[in-house]
Amino acid sequence: MSNKSLALPHNELTILVTGGAGFIGSHTCIELLGQNYNVVIVDDLSNSSKIAVERIRELSGADENQLVFYECNILDREGLETVFSKHAIDAIIHFAGFKAVGESTQKPLEYYWNNVAGSLVLFDVARNHGVKNVIFSSSATVYGDPEMIPITEECPLHEATNPYGETKAMMERILTDFYRADSEWNVVLLRYFNPIGAHESGRIGEDPKDIPNNLLPYVAQVAVGKLERIGVFGNDYPTKDGTGVRDYIHVVDLATGHVAAIKYAAAHSGSIAINLGTGVGYSVLDMISAFSRAVGKEIPYTIDARRPGDIAECYADPKLAYDLLGWKAVHTLDDMCADSWRWQQQNPYGYSDKEA
Ligand code: UD1
Repeated sequence: MSNKSLALPHNELTILVTGGAGFIGSHTCIELLGQNYNVVIVDDLSNSSKIAVERIRELSGADENQLVFYECNILDREGLETVFSKHAIDAIIHFAGFKAVGESTQKPLEYYWNNVAGSLVLFDVARNHGVKNVIFSSSATVYGDPEMIPITEECPLHEATNPYGETKAMMERILTDFYRADSEWNVVLLRYFNPIGAHESGRIGEDPKDIPNNLLPYVAQVAVGKLERIGVFGNDYPTKDGTGVRDYIHVVDLATGHVAAIKYAAAHSGSIAINLGTGVGYSVLDMISAFSRAVGKEIPYTIDARRPGDIAECYADPKLAYDLLGWKAVHTLDDMCADSWRWQQQNPYGYSDKEA
């Protein structure tokens, strides 16, 4: 099966979404179903919940044929064989993977095993079934401390400072080599900036298992009263207010970027890396005040030491995504904060009904 098959009407196409119950995966499933693609989710639920799948069904109105869920780890070759035998998969959006930077430095073997070996098992089974269209969930982390701001895709890649980042860089390289060896592979590497926000319904969103590592989920938990205050990691960076600047992007924009990438892959073959960001950078203090506006009360914070490995500034040049995919982010910072807050308020314990 070549990428030509992706040119069929959407309702005749089936997209395998690994990690489809996760934060970005669940929002992407909604957008795919909204455009009439059939979706097969493979997720081991190690950092997600079956309830997310139920809510994808509720929000999309998908029936048992349009949306199928398998609880399966990507290292499970037999499980994947079953999925590929039962469904004529046309393309894979590969999200499944461990993603905590700090944890990856403690558990490198688990990170490389799951994210790299798991991906190899997935792509081996896919290839055996003739499936070579892949959209891969990469990260701006591959640019390391970026040599240019805004960051274009031409920006040189830098060695990652942690195993999580290294698994993203390795998978980019591996998928590019697949294409170099066999031009039937059709690979789009999407480099995400900082996804935040939630579906505007408040039914799906980010559900960190422990204390959040990332800024916005942490701020949201302070706002809801689960955590006392947010520590700002350094105010002596060479930025407008001294705090770190990032390109925060609404998760629904990120999700529509994946649908645009599927459409792009239907008309082009090759291997390409594309940034998914807004092109606008906000500081930590900007984010705290935007979230305070959404909540309608001050969020307490203190200025703490820098976090090792952090960079001063990171935001995208999103032009290539617009030129190639016809895609750009449309949600504002206030949308992102309002949607995060709605999700957090309606689901103070995430997908579980009580505190873990
Ligand atoms: C982090 C990862 C990155 C990964 C991304 C996934 C690190 C060093 N980088 O990006 O590899 O791809 O998450 O979403 O972990 N901040 C605070 N207080 C906090 C938390 C964060 O001040 O409690 C600041 C940080 O210093 C940074 C900004 O908020 O300036 C954003 O941090 P975060 O949400 O963790 O994202 P990144 O570090 O950009």
